[in-house]
Amino acid sequence: MAVAGLGVAGVTTALAAGHGSAGSQPEPWNPAELRTTLAEMPAGDAGRGERLNTEMMCASCHGGTGESWSGNWSDLGGQRAEYTYKVMLDYKSGLRSEGTRRSGLMQYIAKPLTRQDMADLAAYYESLPLPPADPEARQTQAAEELVRAGDPSRLITPCSSCHGRDGQGGINETPALAGQDRAYFIRTMNHFKNGQRDNDLNEGMSVFARQLTDGEIEALADYYAAMGSE
Ligand code: HEC
Ligand code: HEC
Repeated sequence: MAVAGLGVAGVTTALAAGHGSAGSQPEPWNPAELRTTLAEMPAGDAGRGERLNTEMMCASCHGGTGESWSGNWSDLGGQRAEYTYKVMLDYKSGLRSEGTRRSGLMQYIAKPLTRQDMADLAAYYESLPLPPADPEARQTQAAEELVRAGDPSRLITPCSSCHGRDGQGGINETPALAGQDRAYFIRTMNHFKNGQRDNDLNEGMSVFARQLTDGEIEALADYYAAMGSE
């Protein structure tokens, strides 16, 4: 393992030294390039991904089975491999940069990973069950309507038309949302809304986030948190 000695201490030092964000401005995706990149994703080896998850310290934050310990760290279990793969490429190139310490950390961690490493990790997470449903999360009628029907008056497409009937994810890089950690969900939606997260193809996600109120984002976070596996 070339980078086995990375460790959380090394990460903290790098961030303190200001290496968190990428230097040059990364190019946004265009549809053809993203399609080709996903089509050429190497076949993932989930067994090797499981080992990397431990050796590369991913497990220390995201958990050994893709379920993180806290809302600081998103859940990865049951996630679509294409999504994880794309997001890791985006961290590595610096395209996904919310300008926060958290995203700086992930950029640093993604740097040494090869495409094969990313595909293996992605295959491992995809092989795991979705995170468990949060027993305290409730599904309101208002959230249900946004998910199933959208809001034509604000040009909001139903979330379920892309993210799947059961929040299991859609085609290509469209992620699963079921069981996602509530705090992470709210944070990343706000980042789409205020433009801090702009790694989505053709603003395909931020265009909807910008239309949502804070209350609606919270209701949607609850809606999907209530949906995880048993
Ligand atoms: C020191 C803690 C830490 C370690 C170690 C770590 N991560 Fe992360 N990771 C984070 C945080 C924090 C975020 C959320 C960033 C945010 O909120 O903007 C994240 C986000 C992610 C995401 C995006 C999730 C999503 O739903 O978009 C993926 C994928 C990911 N990490 C994979 C990995 C992999 C693979 C490794 C090991 C190679 C790893 N992480 C190691 C803290 C960590
Ligand atoms: C036209 C398809 C489409 C629609 C409609 C859509 N999304 Fe998305 N969404 C995406 C794609 C594609 C991504 C991945 C962006 C990227 O490349 O990082 C995404 C990402 C997300 C993420 C980030 C997940 C993570 O792990 O970081 C959340 C949260 C989300 N969408 C919630 C919603 C909600 C809630 C709605 C309904 C109000 C919605 N989306 C409607 C396509 C869509």
